[in-house]
Amino acid sequence: MDRKEFLSLIGLGATSIFAATCLGGCSKAASGYTGSAPSNVDISLDLSLPVNASLNTSGGYLYTGGIIVAKTTAGTFIAVSQACTHEGVSVQYQGPNQRFYCPSHGATFSNTGAVTAGPASVALKQYNTSLNGNLLRIYS
Ligand code: FES
Repeated sequence: MDRKEFLSLIGLGATSIFAATCLGGCSKAASGYTGSAPSNVDISLDLSLPVNASLNTSGGYLYTGGIIVAKTTAGTFIAVSQACTHEGVSVQYQGPNQRFYCPSHGATFSNTGAVTAGPASVALKQYNTSLNGNLLRIYS
């Protein structure tokens, strides 16, 4: 074997390895997210603190403990699991549209977490909320 044949063999080997890796990594199932929503939740947020200030604005939202908490345009507080049920990307709240939206592939969820557009097919988990003075409680 001369040098040219040797390099050709190495090049072919590297290409084969790359192709095998890509095929394995690219063949992920469309609904590959297998995470679970937080359970036994009991979180209190002080809305007078700057860190929670986004919840003082209609349409504002924040993340805490794997949960997205939002204030609707009607002034109520809602909370659902943060991870999109499609592949686990954090959903966002779109106040004017009254929905949760996944920026990854465009799935949308209602204010209660129900799927309104795919590719997600499983609802976000909804949590209870109650407001006592400045303390917002999120619980399951
Ligand atoms: S991760 Fe795909 S729609 Fe959310």
